Amino acid sequence: MDFSLKAGQLDTLRTDCLIVQVYADKTLSKAAKALDEKYHLLARLRELDEVPQKVGNCAWVMSPKGASFKRLLVVCAGSTSRKLTIQEIKSSAQSVAKALKNKSIKSAVWSVENHSEVDSGVFATLIAESVTTGFYSYTETKTQNISIPALTKFTLHGVDKLDAVWRNGLQRGKSIGEGINTARHLGNLPGNICTPTYLADRARALAGGKLTVAVLEEKQIAKLGMGAFMSVAAGSDQPAKFIVMEYRGGAANSAPVVLVGKGITFDTGGISIKPGPAMDEMKFDMCGAASVLGVMTTLKQLQPRQNVVGIIAATENMPSGKATKPGDVVTSMSGQTIEILNTDAEGRLVLCDALTYVERFKPKAVIDIATLTGACVIALGNHASGLYANDQALADELLAAGQAAQDRAWQMPLWDDYQKALDSNFADMANVGGREGGSITAACFLSRYTKKYNWAHLDIAGTAWLGGGAKGATGRPVGLLLQYLLGAYSG
Ligand code: BES
Ligand code: MN
Ligand code: ZN
Repeated sequence: MDFSLKAGQLDTLRTDCLIVQVYADKTLSKAAKALDEKYHLLARLRELDEVPQKVGNCAWVMSPKGASFKRLLVVCAGSTSRKLTIQEIKSSAQSVAKALKNKSIKSAVWSVENHSEVDSGVFATLIAESVTTGFYSYTETKTQNISIPALTKFTLHGVDKLDAVWRNGLQRGKSIGEGINTARHLGNLPGNICTPTYLADRARALAGGKLTVAVLEEKQIAKLGMGAFMSVAAGSDQPAKFIVMEYRGGAANSAPVVLVGKGITFDTGGISIKPGPAMDEMKFDMCGAASVLGVMTTLKQLQPRQNVVGIIAATENMPSGKATKPGDVVTSMSGQTIEILNTDAEGRLVLCDALTYVERFKPKAVIDIATLTGACVIALGNHASGLYANDQALADELLAAGQAAQDRAWQMPLWDDYQKALDSNFADMANVGGREGGSITAACFLSRYTKKYNWAHLDIAGTAWLGGGAKGATGRPVGLLLQYLLGAYSG
């Protein structure tokens, strides 16, 4: 989709759809007022008492004969007495996108007025992001009943000329939206298409400019001593891949932020096999990896002056004659041994080796992103991601980023008290700590591999996808991560 800006006379713009704002007290934006004086379109809405009155509500108006715009979409942008919040801007832009999608509209001009908490750059970012994500639809493996979105040109119009702040905001929002859509799309793809090899190919396709990509094959992974990672891959016929993406936009000596994504492209549980119901949703067990690819996609487009490394540990978790068995003991890259009591606690096994590998980057901070535990879904539902950190300043930054991006996380304890749940009679630690506090003991396991740097862990098991009728990947926590890295939503 092409985003652009326009100034000047509104009633001469040729477009399939003109969008104007009204407020809850039935007052009109400047643009709407000027239009109304000429065409009396909104007066009619008022007479019928059909002026949308709730933030994001829309009303269609047919344009008069001879007008340069074919349709008019009126969107309620809150009340004049209170400024729109980030969440309200997002939801209004999403409902505009939905309305445009429903009518298969090809080009639209939104005459904007920023009456919100945020500055114009962020306002433009939020609109472009929401329109971009609003137009995502999954079509890859469908042949019927697919609606391919028609919109190709989206223009923001200002009564007063919109400056470079708006232009940059639009481009930033488009790139963020595309990063989020990338994460959603990879998550939605079925496990027979989105394999570790597929993820590696997608990463390689991103390489170029300031982004370099290396993919380690099983031989090299084994040679590095990643016995924990390899024990998960043992049961799968699909080759495991260890993907290293380096975005170098900053000074050579500036320490990178490292993102580590759990990339289990399908989690059957292995020999500790999962029950049948909803097992299909375990194709989403690579959403952490997808969020890393989403962030890298946006970084490549926006070219910020900083260094970010993206790591993906990708494999399936399958049962087979070669699969790891409960009770097996493996040696991680760190040298610590692990008794695998439950092969379904595989995420921490692939992550612990990745977390040891990243020491070589001398990172400023390491953040792992993983659909790690069902227990996190029980604790926080699907509204907040679980956040753990060994450094409170990092935790605070991520919490604030989640708040600003409306992609929130909630901090959980990483107290030593929980560590003893991982005691084993046969190895340095067990890979599970029982049912109680399951998300916390999983984080405790990871904490044993992250002592050499500032580290945070995001358990996105509840937030990365929705089940039920709206089943699909959400693209979370790409928004949180981009806010943390770029201040995407704070001007
Ligand atoms: N990928 C799952 C976690 C998961 C389960 C996410 C359900 C979302 C919904 C993970 O690999 C897993 O199976 N975890 C186990 C850990 C347990 C064996 C300690 C779990 O949560 O049941
Ligand atoms: Mn599992
Ligand atoms: Zn898993």
